[in-house]
Amino acid sequence: MKKFVLIFTILFLSFCASAQKFTDLAKTPPMGWNSWNKYHCDVSETLIMQMADAMVSSGMKDAGYEYVVIDDCWQVSRDEDGNIVVDPERFPHGMKYLADYIHSKGLKFGIYSSAGTVTCQRRPGGRGHEYQDALMYAKWGVDYLKYDWCGSSTQNAPASYTTMRDALYAAGIPIVFSICEWGSNEPWEWGSNIGHLWRTTGDISDNWNSMISIFERQKDLSRYAGPGGWNDPDMLEVGNGGMTNEEYKTHFSLWCMLASPLMAGNDLANMTPEIKAILTNKELIAVNQDTLGIQATCYRDNGDYQIWVKGLSNNEKAICLLNKSDEKKSVLVDFALLAQIRTMTRRFRPPAGTTGFGGFGVPGATAGGGAPGAAAGVARTGAPGAPATAAPAGSGQPAGAGIPAPQRARRATPLTIDNYRVRDLWEHKDLTLKETSMYVDLDPHSVKVYRFIRK
Ligand code: GLA
Repeated sequence: MKKFVLIFTILFLSFCASAQKFTDLAKTPPMGWNSWNKYHCDVSETLIMQMADAMVSSGMKDAGYEYVVIDDCWQVSRDEDGNIVVDPERFPHGMKYLADYIHSKGLKFGIYSSAGTVTCQRRPGGRGHEYQDALMYAKWGVDYLKYDWCGSSTQNAPASYTTMRDALYAAGIPIVFSICEWGSNEPWEWGSNIGHLWRTTGDISDNWNSMISIFERQKDLSRYAGPGGWNDPDMLEVGNGGMTNEEYKTHFSLWCMLASPLMAGNDLANMTPEIKAILTNKELIAVNQDTLGIQATCYRDNGDYQIWVKGLSNNEKAICLLNKSDEKKSVLVDFALLAQIRTMTRRFRPPAGTTGFGGFGVPGATAGGGAPGAAAGVARTGAPGAPATAAPAGSGQPAGAGIPAPQRARRATPLTIDNYRVRDLWEHKDLTLKETSMYVDLDPHSVKVYRFIRK
């Protein structure tokens, strides 16, 4: 009997040991650079080494960027033993050499494949070679794998990604696992046990409409993001030339608010000072990398004008005012009201079978809905919106009254504007608030991002 229990325990433990992802990785959204958005198939050892050098010399590494990822087209075939073959012309010294070089710069190395039989550029995919490829990646010193969905035909997505997760785990080298199935199978529902990030949409293009429509599709996904598992609205286009600098500031700000992975996709060796300043805005990056790992929610949606809120540690918060329209807007912003928005203190995953939480609460305001009667573009105090989900500050009601039990302990203590100074994260200076409400000008396609910092 004892022997039986022992065998059972060993079998059980070995099953547990193989059936998981690396849990200590990507506790904050991964940051790095990926070749696809700018270079597509034109990748080579020289280019990747140049980008690694530039990541250091440009100050990107100091700002937190870490992973250098080669996307599609590094692989050409499989040999007679089924081993993946690296393009010998473009990568003459092989992948281990490149990984060593990247590591010598204090950076990490990432690679790309697909869960199907072929990649999106019809190079060999990973299907049927998962364990073999994972061992090869471990041998090379790969730290990050982006795993696409091309060539997958009728494959089951969670099962396919689980196979690769287990293969990576069995290979024994911690690798961030980036699920890239374009949101086709709602990966936010199953991705967090399998990978560290999951694409939520199809590919981004370097233009305003593409970027903003992808942004909009993240609206209902906040509750799925958190340390170790992130919604991925795709890589950054900042600096690739298809948007204005103002639009790139907006793109970067929104990705920071969403706690999205920040994978730059431009030529790091030839950035204008403006583009470099956007990508290395440390105050915005601190919002993205906040250890609570909370993805912003839409607090007010007046169509072209929206207010987004991201809870930060220490009961701080970032507020983003977004003008999506083609016209300039002047909006009346009530900073006292914004100060009172009660953010979450950690990720709230709704128990299975429930529909999640209703956003954030503040007296007299709706979470995610336009306040009836409020003119577009104007944030109003005490607009007659839907009933608040949280007790008004100083109302005498216990904090959390009226909200379901699992959320109570997770709401931050309500604070007021007196507890904060308000910092403009693009101007890099504190606001001087003569009144608690103030008109703010927003250029077309622009944002303002404020951090409410505890005094
Ligand atoms: C897909 C992915 C892109 C990129 C290309 C490469 O389209 O979504 O991000 O990796 O494949 O072929």
